[in-house]
Amino acid sequence: MKKLRIGICGWGNIATGLYDALQSDLLQQLDDLNISIDCIGARRDNPICDYGDIPVFRDIFDIPDQDVDVVVELIGGVEVARELILKAINNGKHIITANKAVIFHHGDEIFQAARDNEVQVLIEASVCAGTPVVKLIKNELAGNNISKVSGMLNGTSNFILSSMEEGMDFDEALSIAKKEGYAEPDPSFDIDGMDAAHKIGILSHLAYGSSLPPKEFYIEGISNISTLDFKYASINNLALKHLAVAKMREGSVEMRVHPVFLDKKSSLASLHGVRNGIEIDTDLVGKVYLAGSGAGRESTASGLISDLIAIGRSLDNNTAVISHSLNVAIKDFDLAVFKYYFYLEVSNEPDIANAINSCFADNNVSVENFLQEDATKDQQVVIMITTGLVNEKNAQVLLDALSCSSFVTSVRLIRIEAN
Ligand SMILES: NC(=O)c1ccc[n+]([C@@H]2O[C@H](COP(=O)([O-])OP(=O)(O)OC[C@H]3O[C@@H](n4cnc5c(N)ncnc54)[C@H](OP(=O)(O)O)[C@@H]3O)[C@@H](O)[C@H]2O)c1
Repeated sequence: MKKLRIGICGWGNIATGLYDALQSDLLQQLDDLNISIDCIGARRDNPICDYGDIPVFRDIFDIPDQDVDVVVELIGGVEVARELILKAINNGKHIITANKAVIFHHGDEIFQAARDNEVQVLIEASVCAGTPVVKLIKNELAGNNISKVSGMLNGTSNFILSSMEEGMDFDEALSIAKKEGYAEPDPSFDIDGMDAAHKIGILSHLAYGSSLPPKEFYIEGISNISTLDFKYASINNLALKHLAVAKMREGSVEMRVHPVFLDKKSSLASLHGVRNGIEIDTDLVGKVYLAGSGAGRESTASGLISDLIAIGRSLDNNTAVISHSLNVAIKDFDLAVFKYYFYLEVSNEPDIANAINSCFADNNVSVENFLQEDATKDQQVVIMITTGLVNEKNAQVLLDALSCSSFVTSVRLIRIEAN
């Protein structure tokens, strides 16, 4: 039986979750692999987990010097994690990490170092925790041309939007997400779209070879969504979701993260609560859809263990699968084409509908659907408009023109994702 000796760096939520999961009978019963935790790097103890007689080093940088096959990096953050991973690689250790931030910012450097040192770097748990999208793209779909990867990749945003769909307002939904432990004490990374951006950057690298870090791309969070947007969604048989997209178009990648309206019948639209969902459009298998828990110690342990088993089973034949960045351009977001939903609050003036319609026509944006609410007590009217297809640049020019017009008090847009 092969033995895989591991050193774990960090002793927080995920590291202790991995320790607990590795005690499972299922793993003890593997007949070809014995995984043993030979050392732990923890600058302090964690009352939720007793590591027994496993040697503990208070300086995590001692772990890469120990006699282990794999260093499991679970400290999070970017620069210290990068330094730790590079030290371990240079010492000939394989790496497993759940850290999307360090891979997003330093993936190319880390993978190159791994190639140079003939070790593996496996990152399944860094995107959607245990939901196995990394190996799915890298291995099982390797014979396919992938035209689009899109997904709801942040559980906190999914939970908040699902709760708002049921009638809660944003702040109430966020406070429940915090209470239930879905959101971080500082949830800004979830809410502003950065967490989903890290994940789609990594998936785009796996599917298309875009660089890590990627060139700049469009990132928008969910903090401007209002309950009235859900009314529009319901009238038009749409669902309002926060979507991350990487799409191959004419040799370059369109990468973007923002709220969208989706056809209510689509598989992503039916996903509610904290779960993550990913749809992959391929040439040979068609649409592949995957959903599962995208966070938490159990789900993340599942992703980490799948990487441990993959490394353990390939130890003797050195079948390292290290991804390469290719010279793939990121498409200019101004050229992306959507139908748009415009939400406007306007003063209740005579002929207001004509004035708004003229503004759209003057900017060469066609109006497909026009919905006007009754005036409120303060003589404000809400208007919700669906446009025909238009590129992002023209939509932004129209948005600016509407913002500057004397009768508009507030205006914003949401993109409608094509099927
Ligand atoms: N939580 C999830 O659901 C989830 C899901 C997927 C992936 N991940 C990823 O998993 C990783 C770990 O997350 P977590 O939730 O376990 O975080 P956590 O509970 O905050 O644990 C982090 C651990 O790393 C230690 N640490 C941090 N910086 C350190 C440093 N500079 N030197 C030494 N030790 C350091 C911390 O020590 P102290 O306690 O002393 O600060 C703590 O033991 C992150 O990359 C995260 O993005 C998390």
